Amino acid sequence: MDDTPEPDENFNDREMTITLTHRGDAPFLEEKRRAILQFRDNARELPFSLDIPQVVIGRSKEADLCVNDHYMSGKHARVLVIHNFYYLEDLNSRNGTTVNGKKVTFMRLAHQDVIQIGQTAFRFLQMDAIDGNYIKRLNLQAVQSLALAVEAKDPYTKGHSERVAEISEHLASVMGLPSTHLERIRIAGVLHDIGKIGVPESVLLKTGKLDPFELELIRKHPVDGQNILRPLNFLGDILPAVYHHHERFDGGGYPTGLAGEAIPLWARIVQVADTYDAMTSDRPYRKALSKEEAAREIVRCSGTQCDPAVAKAMGEILAPGKPG
Ligand SMILES: [Fe+2]
Repeated sequence: MDDTPEPDENFNDREMTITLTHRGDAPFLEEKRRAILQFRDNARELPFSLDIPQVVIGRSKEADLCVNDHYMSGKHARVLVIHNFYYLEDLNSRNGTTVNGKKVTFMRLAHQDVIQIGQTAFRFLQMDAIDGNYIKRLNLQAVQSLALAVEAKDPYTKGHSERVAEISEHLASVMGLPSTHLERIRIAGVLHDIGKIGVPESVLLKTGKLDPFELELIRKHPVDGQNILRPLNFLGDILPAVYHHHERFDGGGYPTGLAGEAIPLWARIVQVADTYDAMTSDRPYRKALSKEEAAREIVRCSGTQCDPAVAKAMGEILAPGKPG
């Protein structure tokens, strides 16, 4: 577990690419075309469509984000994060990128558009059964892209999702959970705060006390997270961990106030990992605690905020003499 902060200078210019990737050979395209058509048939209710030659990569209330490319070369358009704002950029695609019928080379996007694009890309990938491993890898990349979109809004959380993922997996392994669960718990860790994409920066970055309305906005993020991920079938098993990661063992948490073992186990694991990482990271309003201080704090919260079994596993990981 490495909690050394990394330099931030390039972070806000990090590229978040959510483009559809294609290998371009003819049989592949034929398969792809069939997958798309089937996808479209199954998706009458969904607020977007995919077609050839026009590929709609996302649609939201405000914009249809279309990329026309007869050859589906993989060079369509991409989404960039620059100084906490999202932009759509055309990548010299053969026929240009269109938004609501107008060609654009570069335009600013609303956060909601980005969520829609991410979900569309996910759904598209889900339909693609051509190469299971290839798709699995792309799915994970898309998961990470969404998590990065949240971190881009708050530089203080840089690397948070990856660290929570790593700690959650480590805890689950120390607790003896089956190996098939470990990768899923890791994904739950990556995505646990995805709902924060809907929280305005003014609230997310506020250093002073939050007023009740702002608190309410922050407290909505597990619910928003579940709503964002719900359409993605392949993430169905991790939704409870995202939804319940702010519950407390004594029932004083949110959004439901569940207590004890009624809280899904993966959520109790992510909760401890999240708490530990928050305590050991610098925030605008306080300095990071040392690993030893954080370990003591987790033990102190055992049975109130934290599940005692998970807190015990954390204690084992952080026991003196163990490499952090
Ligand atoms: Fe959270």
